[in-house]
Amino acid sequence: MGTENDYRGFYGDTQLLYDSVLIELVSRLNIIRKYKVLNNERDPIENIKTRIKSPGSMIEKLKSRGITPMAENIPGNIMDAAGARVICTYIDDVYEVARILASQKDIKVIEVKDYIKEPKPSGYRSYHMIIEVPIYIGEECRRVCAEVQIRTLSMDFWASLEHQIRYKHDIPNQAIIASELRRCADEVASVEMNFLTIRDMIAEMKKEADNQ
Ligand code: GTP
Ligand code: MG
Repeated sequence: MGTENDYRGFYGDTQLLYDSVLIELVSRLNIIRKYKVLNNERDPIENIKTRIKSPGSMIEKLKSRGITPMAENIPGNIMDAAGARVICTYIDDVYEVARILASQKDIKVIEVKDYIKEPKPSGYRSYHMIIEVPIYIGEECRRVCAEVQIRTLSMDFWASLEHQIRYKHDIPNQAIIASELRRCADEVASVEMNFLTIRDMIAEMKKEADNQ
């Protein structure tokens, strides 16, 4: 991930919009982190990655929707040209970060897909938002869409490995692999719940000790 300067050949002037919306988003997320820590709360975010969709994938996406693959057709049609992936520590951090972003008055939430409540058939878990953010390009204000994927360390661990495996196409028995990957997704989710329980137990013990 990371914004790519060599995408300009395809993206042209729209690259500035997508670079800018990612700068804006990362800045807002970092302010959330600072504000939490200043309030003696845990930093809910482990790390943030950003990417602009590669020209190849963007051309495929436009074509698959019957749209002429030209940069000027991206802003009105494709909402995930710019993407940020926010890796949180625990599940409740995912919802807290999503809640704060959505509460910011100048951000418009276009779409939410909660694949944590309802995981994909693959086993994929993540919270996806398409948001529209105002960006000042010089004196002009533009509203730019971006996709924010918010998930925990364990959801990211599973998704990263599954993504790598899925792109190895010479697998003879796809069904067995798919069901094994789903089983791993369940196990990872269960380990994550255990960590959450332990975290809450420690917090409870600390509270009791402080009250004595
Ligand atoms: P497009 O935006 O057209 O791709 O379709 P969509 O809106 O249905 O996409 P969705 O919001 O479901 O997911 C988009 C992104 O989520 C993908 O580009 C991946 O990064 C991620 N994703 C979705 N499903 C999976 C999955 O099964 N495994 C992994 N590793 N990632 C997934
Ligand atoms: Mg999408």
